[in-house]
Amino acid sequence: MIAVGCDQGGFALKGVIIDYLKEKNIEYNDLGTYTEDSVDYPVYAKKVAEAVLSGEAEKGILICGTGIGVSITANRYRGIRCALCGDVFSAKATRAHNDSNVLALGGRVVGAGLAVEIVDAWLNTEFSHEERHQRRIDMMD
Ligand code: RB5
Repeated sequence: MIAVGCDQGGFALKGVIIDYLKEKNIEYNDLGTYTEDSVDYPVYAKKVAEAVLSGEAEKGILICGTGIGVSITANRYRGIRCALCGDVFSAKATRAHNDSNVLALGGRVVGAGLAVEIVDAWLNTEFSHEERHQRRIDMMD
């Protein structure tokens, strides 16, 4: 299951991502926000981080205007490895090298088509399990 969250700056793109998840029959939990009214992005980053850390969700996707606020917040939660991606190469590399468990996107930065490609690449790339990458992840904490 993928936990998905956003603020108003990511609301429109969240709809696009949810359409993609539905099309691919990927189970998801939409943790809000549910309108374009102004909200505080740390609330939604916390919801997604906690869903991943509890095991309720396998991974999370967070979207705000830039992707920066949600990624900074999510990375405050020990065990969360949130990667802000604006390109497909980084999306693949962060799964293979960092075993990132949350993806952050900027709803005002990436277009819908690129965002879907990033999500698709991120969800479909496995962690490499190479010793050097695991060692570096272990060093983070
Ligand atoms: C909201 O205006 C905006 O600050 C937020 O979506 C995000 O970009 C913060 O990092």
